[in-house]
Amino acid sequence: MNQKNTLTLHQTMLRAAGLLSLFVVLSVALLMAINWFTQPKIIEAERQALLQLINQVMPAETYNNDLLADVRFVTEPDFLGSPEPMAIYRARLNNQPAGLVLQTIAPNGYSGNIHILVGVLPDGRVSGVRVLKHRETPGLGDKIELRKTDWILSFNGKSLTEQNANRWAVKRDRGEFDQFTGATITPRAVVGAVRKTLDYVNQQGVALYD
Ligand SMILES: Cc1cc2nc3c(=O)[nH]c(=O)nc-3n(C[C@H](O)[C@H](O)[C@H](O)COP(=O)(O)O)c2cc1C
Repeated sequence: MNQKNTLTLHQTMLRAAGLLSLFVVLSVALLMAINWFTQPKIIEAERQALLQLINQVMPAETYNNDLLADVRFVTEPDFLGSPEPMAIYRARLNNQPAGLVLQTIAPNGYSGNIHILVGVLPDGRVSGVRVLKHRETPGLGDKIELRKTDWILSFNGKSLTEQNANRWAVKRDRGEFDQFTGATITPRAVVGAVRKTLDYVNQQGVALYD
């Protein structure tokens, strides 16, 4: 009787362990299947989000190449503010240079790195600037975001030349860009980063399309 009871308990435990293992295997298989089906959709959604951002600084109608695939990575900490490789997307219209979109960082924001996208036309003019990511203070430094103020649009159409280089600063530093009331550090950092990006593009010239 005792032995029979022990056997039954043993069998019950084995059965429970077997069921549990089966459950684990099925769950893992289900997760893998979900991942297999959703991963391409997630990648495509991320691609579209990036393209939408890029198109804010380089309008889609100005080029007809696959811009996301036409990318080159450069490591230029002095010009692009980061020791990491930064993306340069090359826009082309019928295979002719139509513009560059550079990823750059202003490392000297009030709260550290400000991630920026800068669009530059082949003649050196800025086609647009947008802030991608920052930790500046709401109500002060965050006026660099387009959804807060249109300050970031003040770069549109400007270029950096030897003659106007000293105008690439905030008004407090005798430049032509507005600062914000009680917040000069953030706009100063962004103006500095865009200026350095243009300096880099001016120096490299058409080689950036190679
Ligand atoms: C809590 C706190 C948060 C601040 N955040 C920012 C900021 O995000 N961006 C900025 O430029 N200045 C910020 N400031 C102000 C700076 O410390 C600095 O005073 C200002 O940028 C200098 O600009 P002003 O010469 O126009 O006053 C902040 C100050 C405090 C006390």
